[in-house]
Amino acid sequence: MGTLDSKAVVITGAGNGLGAAYARHVASLGAAVVVNDLDQEAAAGTVAAIKAAGGRAIVHAGDASNWAFCEELIATCVSQLGTITGLVNNAAVLLHSRGEDLTEDHLRRMIDVNLIGTAACGHHAIRAMQTLGTRGTIVNVCSGSQAGDVALGAYGATKAGVAALTYTWALELRGSNITVNAISPLADTAMSQSNSDFMEAQSAEREVVYGTLPAADVNAPVVGYLLSDDARAIHGQIVRIAGDELSFATHPMIADPVLKGHWTDSTLRDAFRDILNDKQQKLGLTYEPKRN
Ligand SMILES: NC(=O)c1ccc[n+]([C@@H]2O[C@H](COP(=O)([O-])OP(=O)(O)OC[C@H]3O[C@@H](n4cnc5c(N)ncnc54)[C@H](O)[C@@H]3O)[C@@H](O)[C@H]2O)c1
Repeated sequence: MGTLDSKAVVITGAGNGLGAAYARHVASLGAAVVVNDLDQEAAAGTVAAIKAAGGRAIVHAGDASNWAFCEELIATCVSQLGTITGLVNNAAVLLHSRGEDLTEDHLRRMIDVNLIGTAACGHHAIRAMQTLGTRGTIVNVCSGSQAGDVALGAYGATKAGVAALTYTWALELRGSNITVNAISPLADTAMSQSNSDFMEAQSAEREVVYGTLPAADVNAPVVGYLLSDDARAIHGQIVRIAGDELSFATHPMIADPVLKGHWTDSTLRDAFRDILNDKQQKLGLTYEPKRN
């Protein structure tokens, strides 16, 4: 008996990298998996590996940034596997550029795949789970880059958008039988390799330097757990998986006020100089603020 025996799960971008590792792992725990990827051959490769290991999976290749395709993807899970109990919104693209080099094309591509694709698949999955009345789980995918990362402003912005969707869907679905969480993974994949290559070429500083990135498989048990009934109580969280360290990412919150009531130009200036200057938040995952 696997912990996911009765589950039917859609995983986007599961032809390669982390998505393929999640698909193989959740299938090994008993779930039937719809393997999506833009790359049909890669998706078929993941399905073949799952079947060779005795698991259940089908391919549904296509563009997970397309609203109508996402509806079809979720409907395929219901029609082919009988239900939908899980969605892993994994597909994403990462294109580098500092603020001064950003192109509209790169920005729109990342927003399309990372943000609109996640919103579209999530929307259709929530609707299907509600219609079926099934217990369901959405696992979105964020990134440490949402805290700010050199040359990853646009990518990080899409992932911060995914975090906001996660918090909001979790609020909206509180008390229902649908749970919504996100993960913030770390792994040696084509995406992280392109990032390392870019950073090396640019001699840009990384916010966090990891000597060797963990294998994608290291991240997969967290997805398996979140999709299981054991994880019912975990809701609205971003689970950070950094190799051998497991934690939650903290949520953005409003700090205690340092001034209340009406302020004047002079009390405001004093508050910034005497209080807020020393309360500036860290930049990115590691940098202390530069104080003037
Ligand atoms: N690798 C890391 O260290 C890391 C860190 C933080 C977050 N992430 C996130 O994890 C997820 C997986 O990353 P990865 O490193 O495995 O990336 P990857 O580039 O190795 O794999 C991504 C897969 O998504 C597919 N894909 C891209 N656009 C698609 C689309 N429109 N429709 C369907 N499939 C599409 C690609 O074909 C590819 O197979 C992404 O959401 C990424 O942002 C990765």
